[in-house]
Amino acid sequence: MSIAEKYPEEVKAIFTKYPVKRSAVMPMLYLAQREEGFITKAGMAEIATLLDLDVTEVASIVGFYSLYHDEKAGKYRMQVCNDLPCALRGADKFLEALCGNLGVKVGETTPDGLVTVEAVMCLAACDKAPMFQMQDGDKVTYYENMTVDRTMELVEALKKSGVEAK
Ligand code: FES
Repeated sequence: MSIAEKYPEEVKAIFTKYPVKRSAVMPMLYLAQREEGFITKAGMAEIATLLDLDVTEVASIVGFYSLYHDEKAGKYRMQVCNDLPCALRGADKFLEALCGNLGVKVGETTPDGLVTVEAVMCLAACDKAPMFQMQDGDKVTYYENMTVDRTMELVEALKKSGVEAK
């Protein structure tokens, strides 16, 4: 089902708010991502058609912002900044060790489907590396001055809370 068919009221409200069609791209992407947590190629194509944009323009926006996704992920997205200032504070080593502990490569999801580890560009906390943002649906939490041990404790706590919630 298309985005316009699935969310007719929301699409109408967005178009009313942004009379210049192309200005509606961000809220439309947000809407497209609502259900699955990522935007499909078909979703991007539909948004491009609705807003008179090229699909590549829409895809480049999805690729640029760390809050938009074009692939399915685990329950949590752990987005580690390894941009240059953070790399100078050990972000690369942190990311490598973290992936080793979790048994995944960057971009992969833990076998239990809990955490997807991603490397992202600057998250505006350059003096607090190693740092990452954790996305849980719409909720984003920053973790700064992290160690691998503390991050693993966090993952364990998330695992536990998921089990307890069932
Ligand atoms: S470079 Fe990592 S937060 Fe800025």
